[in-house]
Order: sequence, then structure tokens, then C-alpha cells
Amino acid sequence: MTSGWTWYVIAITVINLIGCVWLLRANTRRSPTDPKPDETGHVWDGNITEYNKPLPKWWINLFYITIVFSVGYLLWFGVGTFRGFGHWSSHKEWALETAAEDARLDDTLKLYAGKPIDMLAKDPQAVALGRNIFINRCAACHGSTGHGATGFPDLTDDIWHWGGTPHRILETIQEGRQAVMPAWATTLTAQGGPTAVDDTIAYVLSLSKPAQARDEASERGEKLFQTICVACHGPQGKGNQVVGAPDLTDSYWLYGSSKASLHKTLNEGRQGVMPAWKPVLGDTRTRLVGAYVWTLSPHTDGPPAGAVVAE
Ligand code: HEC
Ligand code: HEC
Repeated sequence: MTSGWTWYVIAITVINLIGCVWLLRANTRRSPTDPKPDETGHVWDGNITEYNKPLPKWWINLFYITIVFSVGYLLWFGVGTFRGFGHWSSHKEWALETAAEDARLDDTLKLYAGKPIDMLAKDPQAVALGRNIFINRCAACHGSTGHGATGFPDLTDDIWHWGGTPHRILETIQEGRQAVMPAWATTLTAQGGPTAVDDTIAYVLSLSKPAQARDEASERGEKLFQTICVACHGPQGKGNQVVGAPDLTDSYWLYGSSKASLHKTLNEGRQGVMPAWKPVLGDTRTRLVGAYVWTLSPHTDGPPAGAVVAE
């Protein structure tokens, strides 16, 4: 607060207090010309007369006491930039309270320090703590139930682009992940002519529908796939957990399976970023939220056969 505003606030407060005192005195003093206390001279219906009794003394004194109290209050807690003689500040009070709260929480968290997430997942209290962290920190991107959205992976299935072992999931959460799917349209067109992007898309779509008859476009696309895409997605398109390249043969699509979305993927590339949480939450809290994430998935499928698995 600037000193101008300080004086403004102090002036308004003081004027208000003086105003209160003035109002009280003006209304409790009787002037000699006033009628006697119990005769106002007002009469209704012939026999109803109005009395004018002064306020009782104790009532008026109560008002004076509140005014004296407010002056003391201002001197103790301050007004404007004047800090008050009590040196109280909401910031100080908040700091003391959070310090006490943190100490209490650290005590609770000690129990869970250094434990693997699949082990913590068996402890309902650890999972409950993890769920709170998830709602606060992860739900904005992965959804409050962990089902994800376009570009933000579903954490409730057993498909893990970066690996689904307790160790890998914890590493994903603690260190973050940066996926790099380069834009391939120019390279594809240079190698396979003007239809190259559509051909590659036809092949990619055929990977998740193995029962369907293959057309010529997808046959042409396969050749391109086996020269360029194979490096990360593997010869069968089963993916690579080391670089976060998805399995293209399953029915799960991080960015959707429409032709428009696949065109965007090949024309512009995709760079999904999972932030690193260890610097924000510390080791134990990331383990707790990892334990909650562990409970979301059924862990029945395991990595697809043919994928490059990270341990
Ligand atoms: C350098 C490694 C690399 C190469 C080479 C590569 N990709 Fe990818 N691709 C990735 C990564 C990593 C992702 C995940 C991107 C993300 O999560 O943001 C990805 C994602 C995709 C997706 C999105 C999948 C989904 O679930 O939505 C498609 C489709 C795809 N790639 C197709 C291809 C095709 C076709 C080629 C060859 C022209 C190719 N990729 C070459 C690394 C690569
Ligand atoms: C700003 C958005 C954002 C927030 C917040 C976020 N994530 Fe993520 N997360 C992502 C994205 C995007 C990916 C996918 C990266 C990629 O393209 O491969 C991801 C990937 C993951 C994966 C890997 C999934 C797989 O298939 O391997 C896990 C596990 C995960 N997040 C857990 C969490 C947890 C736990 C939190 C909270 C502590 C969290 N995320 C907060 C955006 C976010």
C-alpha cells in the first residue's frame, strides 16, 4: 500500500470513529427546548400517546465501550501500513500454520518413503493419499478418473507407451516424458510420391484390423513404413517403450484414429509432454500418486509381443 492510500484509509477510519461518538452525544443530550421525556405531544386515536424516553445509560455505555475497543483493536492490529503494536500478520499466521501442517504430514509420509508403488498400492491409506494428489495435480490432464483425453493417455487400461512396470511408471511420474514423433510428410512424399502420406495412413489403419483384406495403397504404405517408421514403431508396428512410440496394432489411439488426425500426425508430428513431478512433489508423494495410478490399471495384458520393452 502506498503512503497516500495509507493516510486515506486512516482518515476514513478516524472520521468514522469521531462520527460515531458525535452521533451518540448528539442523540443522548437533551436541549432545554425539548419537551419533557414522556410528552412528545403526539396523540393517535384520541388516547394513544407517544413517549420519548432517553436510551438507558447501560446501552449508551455499551456503545462507548465498542468504540474504545475498536481504537484498541486498530492500535494492536494496525491500519493502513501501520503494522500495529501486536505485530500480527495474516502471512505470519499462515506460515506458522502451514509449517505445523507440513511437519505433521512429513511424519505421516515417513511411513511410505522409498517403497515401490505396487507395494504401496496394497495400503488403502497410501492409495487415498495418492488419490488426493492425483485430483490436485494430474486430473487437469488425465481426467478425475484417469481416463484421459485426446493427447492425454488413459491410465486405467493396460496400455503403457512408456512401460507399465512399477519402476517405469514411477520413473514416468518422477522424471517426466517427452515424446517425439517427427513430421514425416515431406520425407514420405520424397520417397513414395504424392500418394505416400495416404498410403502410409492406409497401412497404419490396416495394422489394427488384421482380418480386413489389404488394398494396394496399404501395400505401398507398408514399404514406406518398413523404411522410415520401423525405427521407432518396430517392424510389426508394436511400438517401443524406450522412446514412447505407441503400439499401432491395438485399438487405442492417443490422438484418435480419424484420417484427419492421422494426417495431422504425419504432417506436423506429435510431441506429447508429461511433466516431471519429483521437483514439485518430492520422492514420497510421487510414490503415493504412483500407487494410486497402479490401482487404476488391471495389469493383465503385459506389453505387446514384438514391442521394444523398457525395464
Ligand atoms: C523417431 C521415432 C519415430 C519414428 C521414426 C516414427 N514415429 Fe510415430 N510416434 C513416435 C512417438 C514417440 C509417438 C508418440 C507421440 C506422442 O505421444 O506425442 C508416435 C506416434 C505416432 C502415431 C500416433 C498414435 C496414436 O496412438 O495416436 C502414429 C499414427 C504414428 N506415430 C505413425 C508413424 C508413422 C506412420 C511413421 C513413419 C512415417 C512414424 N510414426 C515414425 C515416434 C516415431
Ligand atoms: C500438463 C498435462 C499433464 C499433467 C498435469 C500430468 N500429465 Fe501425465 N501425461 C501427460 C501427457 C501429455 C502424457 C503422454 C506423453 C506422451 O505423449 O507419451 C502423459 C503420460 C503419463 C503417463 C504414461 C502413460 C503411458 O502410457 O506410459 C503416466 C503414468 C502419467 N502421465 C501419470 C501422471 C501423473 C501421476 C500425474 C500427476 C502427478 C500426471 N501424469 C500429470 C500430461 C500430463
